[in-house]
Amino acid sequence: MQNSYKRMDAHLSNLGYCTRSEVKKFLKKNLVCVDGIRVFDVTQKAYHNDVTVENEPLDNESLLILMNKPSGVICSHSDGGVLIYSMLPLRWQRRNPKISTIGRLDADTTGAILLTDDGELNHKLTSPKSDVAKVYEATLAEPLKGNEADIFASGELFLKGEKKPLLSAKMEILSPLHVRLEICEGRYHQVKRMFGALGNRVVALHRVSFGDFSVENLKLGEYKTVI
Ligand code: URA
Repeated sequence: MQNSYKRMDAHLSNLGYCTRSEVKKFLKKNLVCVDGIRVFDVTQKAYHNDVTVENEPLDNESLLILMNKPSGVICSHSDGGVLIYSMLPLRWQRRNPKISTIGRLDADTTGAILLTDDGELNHKLTSPKSDVAKVYEATLAEPLKGNEADIFASGELFLKGEKKPLLSAKMEILSPLHVRLEICEGRYHQVKRMFGALGNRVVALHRVSFGDFSVENLKLGEYKTVI
């Protein structure tokens, strides 16, 4: 766990308690202490773990959040529409560095999405070399033909416009229109394009888990910190 030593204005503004220009006012209005002693000086340095605000420890310096994303919410900082970050507490929305999603889900896809302000972790988990398993449940427009699991497992399926075949993926049939699919890549619209390549269409998509993180116990729109 990090325990950085820095000025009070940096602690408070980086964690989103207030903006940097508001720190002086924030210290006047709120009980901010270092080792139990009240602080008014924005330049005072302290270790993160020694600071309290209204007798509560500061928020963690680094956050990893698991959300069960609802449909209609967008994994972007800049697109129009309802952004996923607007579902987080205001303080987290104001953090610097910013919280970002680890990869993306389409607006109409529901389910497991991780968010973090740890750029290194984000990079590691989204890099093409990352082999984190992602499990999806897909509802299809047309009944299965029966050969889909073998084709996905073959490691020889090419998506339209791509030069590299997909890695082998595991597909389990839940009903004629409903499958569970485990993939270890994260190509653009991958699941929808996989079924598109076989002449079918995904009409609903839910990500059950990302690596060890499952949203089975979270309702749509709910989130929790996982570190
Ligand atoms: N594959 C898709 O097609 N869409 C998603 O949102 C995730 C995986």
